[in-house]
Amino acid sequence: MDAIRRLIKAMPKAELHLHIEGTLEPEMMMQLAVRNGIKLPYADVEAIRRAFAFGSLQDFLDVYYAGMSVLVTSRDFFDLAFAYLTRMHAENVRHVEIFFDPQGHTSRGISFDTVLSGLVDALERAKRDYGITSKLIMCFLRHLPEDDAFVTLKQACRCKEHIFAVGLDSSEKAHPPSKFSRVFREARENGFVTVAHAGEEGPPSYVCEALDDLEVKRVDHGNRALEDASLVQRLVRDEIPMTVCPLSNQRLQVCPDLTQHPLRRMLKAGMRVTVNSDDPSYFGGYLTDNFLAIQSALSLDRSEIVTLGRNAFLSSFMDDADKQAALDAFNAFVAGFGDS
Ligand code: ADE
Ligand code: ZN
Repeated sequence: MDAIRRLIKAMPKAELHLHIEGTLEPEMMMQLAVRNGIKLPYADVEAIRRAFAFGSLQDFLDVYYAGMSVLVTSRDFFDLAFAYLTRMHAENVRHVEIFFDPQGHTSRGISFDTVLSGLVDALERAKRDYGITSKLIMCFLRHLPEDDAFVTLKQACRCKEHIFAVGLDSSEKAHPPSKFSRVFREARENGFVTVAHAGEEGPPSYVCEALDDLEVKRVDHGNRALEDASLVQRLVRDEIPMTVCPLSNQRLQVCPDLTQHPLRRMLKAGMRVTVNSDDPSYFGGYLTDNFLAIQSALSLDRSEIVTLGRNAFLSSFMDDADKQAALDAFNAFVAGFGDS
């Protein structure tokens, strides 16, 4: 194996854009369907895999929300999250910031507390067993009305000790960030940090709205920001992290040919780019696979990989002392990693 692939596998990593419901592997989907007596529209695991062919974000979301129906008990959420964290431990991932979509569950009659308690238990266990640190980010589904988001925010306000930030995901087109300006203002007033998906399929103006109206500290995806030179300047000047997801962009036809992926242009422009997996079960690869795929497609060199790896720790929501310790460990690892 060449040195750069060894470096990618061995280096300490952080993941900042990961939907926990997007880690539901077909095998677990089947097992949970049996455990909970849920009827799935698929005969077997192979049929589920065949359904993972998407022409757009909406195509994917339809399958993703249907898949969630097997998640019913706290134990299901624990099993889902702990399986992901166990994989991350094997990939030398040290810190994760995980999205969850409560409205995808409360709309089916699953309580907010059922979802959260399973996830929190898994994160605590991963800290104990693997030393993986984490933050939870609760997303609002942007295709639903503002009122629903306010109800969900109220539930989050009862559990502030477990939820660090709020985000915005689901169908981007026709659902601009400004639709949620008031919800995000109330979230900030309640002490939540904010992030948002923007510029995945939507225009650069959605990235501007995320910054101006939602006061986000990171932009999730943001690929299309490159279409607006003044926006790029602003993102560089303000060191706004961009959580880019190469295999997701490929599978959702945002960028079908990874050799044309904007990541290198974003890096060259001076943007604070990170690599992430988004929904790894659905898009064919976890964090390491995303690094390997984009390295190979763009022939990224060692210094570019190191920048991407370091950016993830720099862009995380760890407190200052933890962040410095993680960066020191990352830098020491890179300094000690020979090319032979
Ligand atoms: N929910 C899960 N994955 C998503 C993505 N890539 N974009 C928007 N919403 C999502
Ligand atoms: Zn996402």
